[in-house]
Amino acid sequence: MKSKLIVGNWKMNGGLQANSDLLLAIQSGMSETSCRAAVCVPLPYLAQMQTLLQGSALAWGAQDVSAHQSGAYTGEVSASMLRDFAVRYCIVGHSERRHYHGESDALVASKVQCVLSAGITPIVCVGESQTERAAGQTEAVVKRQLAAVIHANGHCISEIVVAYEPVWAIGTGLTASPEQAQDVHALLRQQLQAASSQAERIAILYGGSMNAENASSLLAQPDVDGGLIGGAALSANDFLTIMASASR
Ligand code: PGA
Repeated sequence: MKSKLIVGNWKMNGGLQANSDLLLAIQSGMSETSCRAAVCVPLPYLAQMQTLLQGSALAWGAQDVSAHQSGAYTGEVSASMLRDFAVRYCIVGHSERRHYHGESDALVASKVQCVLSAGITPIVCVGESQTERAAGQTEAVVKRQLAAVIHANGHCISEIVVAYEPVWAIGTGLTASPEQAQDVHALLRQQLQAASSQAERIAILYGGSMNAENASSLLAQPDVDGGLIGGAALSANDFLTIMASASR
């Protein structure tokens, strides 16, 4: 069985001192855990991650990337620039990017291409809004979002990580029930299997108010291979408890 993957999405939180305190506390508890783990941090802190985490079992990553290689794109950061900081992961298509920055399925798919060609693992987020769930569109929405990425990335698809993040569960304290999460994860798994013979190795993470209390029941589902953790990743104790649940 592949080991589970727990990824912290720090979003726009942190500071030099707060980051180093948090990492020190996480690292000092990590020997008790055996899952894979990473933190995705704001871009200005990637150099700090490279210094503090080099050689550690905790990997690091970014939260977004440009769809361009280089050039006149003020404010953008390319995948090859991320690679200069030895990032292992890059979140792509988070619902906050789709919502606040108007990122389309096509843009997300081309960002995934850039990340893969830089040798970085994209964590591709998909998920339905509350209205879409209420209208019975969950399956259609997540399949459409994933299909765009599969279409653009062909056989490389086995190199991605997928995160199912129902938009209504992000930062709200509402969590998908383990059954709701499993149902969608099973659909995504089928879709990946139809696209790649290597689909079994693709980790499908759950994200959306996963915390120290609900992590074990979510992680016990057969198709939940880990978690993408927002709020709870800012507390070393909570993050370590989730990592411990993923290590059983
Ligand atoms: P949350 O965020 O755990 O705070 O709900 C998850 C995410 O947005 O990745």
